[in-house]
Amino acid sequence: MNLKIAVLPGDGIGPEVVAQALKCLQAVEETFNHNFAYKEAAVGAMAIDKKRTPLPDSTLSLCREADAVLFGAIGDPKYDNDPSATVRPEQGLLKLRKELGLFANIRPVKVFPSLIKNSPLKKEIVSGTDFVIYRELTGGIYFGEKKLNKAGTIASDLCEYSEKEISRIAHLAFKAAKSRRKKLTLVDKANVLESSRLWRKVVTRIGESYPEVQLDFLFVDNAAMQIILNPSQFDVILTENMFGDIISDEGSVIGGSIGLLASASVGDENGLFEPIHGSYPQARGKDIANPIASILSAAMLLEHFGLYEEAMAVRQAVDKSLEKGIVTPDLNAKSQYGTSHVGDFIAHNIVDSEDDFNMNDENIDLGKSTII
Ligand code: IPM
Ligand code: MN
Repeated sequence: MNLKIAVLPGDGIGPEVVAQALKCLQAVEETFNHNFAYKEAAVGAMAIDKKRTPLPDSTLSLCREADAVLFGAIGDPKYDNDPSATVRPEQGLLKLRKELGLFANIRPVKVFPSLIKNSPLKKEIVSGTDFVIYRELTGGIYFGEKKLNKAGTIASDLCEYSEKEISRIAHLAFKAAKSRRKKLTLVDKANVLESSRLWRKVVTRIGESYPEVQLDFLFVDNAAMQIILNPSQFDVILTENMFGDIISDEGSVIGGSIGLLASASVGDENGLFEPIHGSYPQARGKDIANPIASILSAAMLLEHFGLYEEAMAVRQAVDKSLEKGIVTPDLNAKSQYGTSHVGDFIAHNIVDSEDDFNMNDENIDLGKSTII
């Protein structure tokens, strides 16, 4: 398959983790005879530094022309603590989502058995967790009208949803549930919010076309509690933009490291694949960031194009690195392996999953692998 991939490494650890995902995609090309063309562009704080905007037009048009976008991370502390900053890195990502029509953000939360011990929760609570969050991504309070009175003392953000915005992501979520354990939970605040009542009405109606899927509802405050008390009760969670932002960070800690979770943002035409974690500026350039979330985002990219065998090869190589302890220090404080080494190991295993040569760190360090 030929694919055009726009690569947007962004800020902080973004470039380091994306570089490992690229090694893995190149390993897939080599192994399965595909041809992926990569073009890199600026986004986030580094784009503000270079071009005074977090999403230069040239980046947006590159993404529009590409089949998929591989995204790293954005954000820089110099903007976080300055409420008066009018240009912010996050605006780049929000605009990109809106412009590309990426209305569904898909965030799988799965516990790797070899990492259960890393979870802040008890083993018996965590084991068996396997759910996916479908977060609406281009509507709601993020994109509603924003107001600030002249005196700067009263502010508001409008949370607005249309039937159309709700139904297009609801269909995706029901289809996902149909191919999984057939349970869909709509998370909302319908006891208080009019927009949530519209979500319930629309989702209930759409549910009639998916009779095999069991639909239930949870208020978001209760959902926040249930995700920690009993995460394995969930299969597909469907929710609006801001609730999804919050509960997906919550879900991400269940497995023990946010450095493992990937996401896909899809629309009718485009797809963007990125780790859930942020730019982790303190770790930048230190070769300690966990590249797995970025690598698994590349696996989601492959699945998006129906390349299931290829994605499976990536996932299996990731599993192997976890089983063999070829991991970054966030997963094992004593680990001496860095970001790049973990990426090399996983990429090499995609090319040759049987090769015990990979277990020999010396060879990896010496760059004897075919793809290093
Ligand atoms: C995310 C992030 C973004 C969001 C920020 C960076 C705008 O937290 O992708 O979850 O809030 O959507
Ligand atoms: Mn978030």
